[in-house]
Amino acid sequence: MAHHIDLSGQDILGYLRTHENKDLLRFITCGSVDDGKSTLIGRLLYESKLVYEDQLAQLAADSKKVGTQGEDLDFALLVDGLAAEREQGITIDVAYRFFSTEKRKFIVADTPGHEQYTRNMVTGASTADLAVILIDARKGVLTQTRRHSYIVSLLGIRHVVVAVNKMDMVGYDQATFDAIEKDYRQFAKQIGLENILCIPLSALKGENMVERSKAMPWYHGPSLMQHLETVEVEDALRDAPLRMPVQWVNRPNSEFRGFAGQISAGQVRPGSRVRALPSGKEALVERIVTMDGDLPLAVAGQSVTLTLDREIDISRGDLIASADEPASVADQFQAALIWMHEDAMLPGRPYLMKIGTRTVTASIAAPRHKINVNTLEHLAARQLELNEIGVCNINLDRPIAFDPYGDNRDTGGFILIDRLSNDTVGAGLLQFALRRADNIHWQALDVNNQARALAKGQKACILWFTGLSGAGKSTIANLVEKRLHAMGRHTYLLDGDNVRHGLNKDLGFTDADRVENIRRVAEVSRLMVDAGLIVLVSFISPFRSERRMARDLVGAGEFIEIHVDTSLEDAERRDPKGLYRKARRGELKNFTGIDSPYEAPENAEITVHTRDLSAEQAAEQIIGYLDKAGITNVWDAHLASL
Ligand code: ADX
Repeated sequence: MAHHIDLSGQDILGYLRTHENKDLLRFITCGSVDDGKSTLIGRLLYESKLVYEDQLAQLAADSKKVGTQGEDLDFALLVDGLAAEREQGITIDVAYRFFSTEKRKFIVADTPGHEQYTRNMVTGASTADLAVILIDARKGVLTQTRRHSYIVSLLGIRHVVVAVNKMDMVGYDQATFDAIEKDYRQFAKQIGLENILCIPLSALKGENMVERSKAMPWYHGPSLMQHLETVEVEDALRDAPLRMPVQWVNRPNSEFRGFAGQISAGQVRPGSRVRALPSGKEALVERIVTMDGDLPLAVAGQSVTLTLDREIDISRGDLIASADEPASVADQFQAALIWMHEDAMLPGRPYLMKIGTRTVTASIAAPRHKINVNTLEHLAARQLELNEIGVCNINLDRPIAFDPYGDNRDTGGFILIDRLSNDTVGAGLLQFALRRADNIHWQALDVNNQARALAKGQKACILWFTGLSGAGKSTIANLVEKRLHAMGRHTYLLDGDNVRHGLNKDLGFTDADRVENIRRVAEVSRLMVDAGLIVLVSFISPFRSERRMARDLVGAGEFIEIHVDTSLEDAERRDPKGLYRKARRGELKNFTGIDSPYEAPENAEITVHTRDLSAEQAAEQIIGYLDKAGITNVWDAHLASL
């Protein structure tokens, strides 16, 4: 049954092409180092004869040196390829391995079982059709078995093989196996896993791996390889309604305009009626263009370029969907989130959300609950930490086309990216759209921001003062406001200490509270800009992300960031409120600059160096900038332009 393949070098695409006509099973293995996962994968690879001669020689040498199996080959070493991993005895990251038998080709995602590597497991599982969950026959169903199974079910994998391994260590005892199977099925039912096959095996001894085991005549099911070769994974996506996220618009000349992308679900023919989303415009497909000529039909998985019978506006990131069963369009959702970063999820902070080929800005509300994946209990939570799974409401800056994740992983699954570091911080599954926004419409008003500001003879804007506590923000802001007032300008000063006595008196100084503090103040300042005012905002506002959010709320040129730049030493020496002393004594937690970060602006419009300037001189510098920018007197600017 084994099949020889020349997998020279890393030519994976070449390999896949050779075996194009055989069907492909993608699966993931879940289990910990101790469950014998590497041995199991190593054995599968070995049995498919995909291991090179020279690798085999190396393996034999390594087995003698570090192996735990005496003279036998230690298959775990084949998989735990990296030296560092070998020394630590753990595997990290996701490794994709390719093998093939006469019946099928396989891609197996091997992911580490350690709890801190949930993100690897999510990555591996997101494209798998089947999961092999390993259980050590001596230990039975463990916390992490439940954890893995929960993630498998959450990510929509419908087929599960429970490999009860190390049966040799329990004397191939049927009662032990039966008890584990019963236990597992009970749990699986609670999380909605249905297609489950439990196989008693020994990866090490090769029992029930390829041939049916003679050591366990009481087991009548297939061996692991037999099952992997024959299990039917329904191609539900082919029969689903058409979805094609547009990767790019191909327009080599004025005659040709095609929309390129990979069909994620369904099928399309010339003549199919499609709807572009979110715009909702419809057209008929004219041609299906590929490198190898036009096609009469294209199905899920194929990459094609579609041309349409009329000009409709479609850009990169849009979705082409069947007109009869289009995807929904919304900008507020309930979603399950898996947090993958060491820095906790901060409710209210804007993150980039990448869904299909589209990237939008998303802000996440405080979790409705988080899930204890061992007990499936719903727990109250204010944020999500690394590896935690929770359910949250999400708000986008514009509507997107989507399907619930349960219907389509591509149009319902997304990742979250930190806007500043570009790190992937989380993954999520859209569950459903929230309808509450439908009933709140943005009122179009005839008198607008500019009209209101013009009536005051000024240009509305936000002067955003940021800096350490004790840097002098409030003193300088106060002087600037006095000067503006004397010039007859209409202003308002929002000061951290004051706002925290009223609107924000429910907030403290954790990262999450500071994010919310700034979010509210940014929204209030936006309203004030709309009212035509010059708004002075004086808050530490320690995070770049939230200052940027505030900037994005108003128009270009309406946000002027002023960094009141004082060294920590100077601020601490001044210590006008005695707070640094308290913080140093440990009486005040999360104090900015001491045990809470301050991220200095990189491109502030104005930087005031308090070491060289008095507060009056600093105010003068700022007024000078405002005069030049035409903010203090629009009539001057207006007249000059005549
Ligand atoms: S921010 O970080 O959320 O922007 P904000 O400007 O509103 O802070 O409030 C800062 C003021 O609160 C400081 O000037 C100081 O008077 C006071 N304060 C009390 N505790 C802290 C703390 N742990 N960190 C910083 N400021 C604190």
